[in-house]
Amino acid sequence: MFIIRPYIETDLEDIIQLWERCDLTRPWNNPEIDIFRKAAQKDDLFLVAVKDQFIIATLMGGYDGHRGWINYLAVHPNHQRNGVATALIQHLEKRLIALGCPEIQLLVQKEFIDIQNFYEQLGYDEKEVVCLAKRLIHDH
Ligand SMILES: CC(C)(COP(=O)(O)OP(=O)(O)OC[C@H]1O[C@@H](n2cnc3c(N)ncnc32)[C@H](O)[C@@H]1OP(=O)(O)O)[C@@H](O)C(=O)NCCC(=O)NCCS
Repeated sequence: MFIIRPYIETDLEDIIQLWERCDLTRPWNNPEIDIFRKAAQKDDLFLVAVKDQFIIATLMGGYDGHRGWINYLAVHPNHQRNGVATALIQHLEKRLIALGCPEIQLLVQKEFIDIQNFYEQLGYDEKEVVCLAKRLIHDH
């Protein structure tokens, strides 16, 4: 069994290790700064799953007043295919509905496209959009 709770400050190092283990860190994102920025929002949408006092999964949720967002979904390889990611997403969805958020979305890097099946069985459909982005702060 595992519990789901919002991020607290002392989770920082464990989360970075988990993201590295799950190959989610990227050269253009400094994970520590990403976590500080998110924690400063104090929205309790950055969730962790904890089992036997170890962080086994994360889900950085968000709500911008128009759409809910999913980022940094990661489950430790030893705990995958046990429904942890499903439970995190469903937990986030409930929190977003309580905030009045009408729709939730996420961006998937093309290299992760094989997990589209995971999202589809949770009711997420692919949208025909082009994602444009501009980096405003370079963290390194
Ligand atoms: C993708 C990921 C979050 C799934 O977490 P999980 O806790 O194992 O997922 P669940 O156990 O809730 O999976 C539920 C269902 O989704 C589907 N699914 C899960 N992982 C899948 C994968 N890698 N490929 C295809 N389908 C998958 C399966 O249908 C699964 O049900 P089943 O185990 O009964 O077959 C996890 O594999 C992970 O952290 N991967 C590395 C990082 C990553 O890819 N993050 C996503 C970036 S967008």
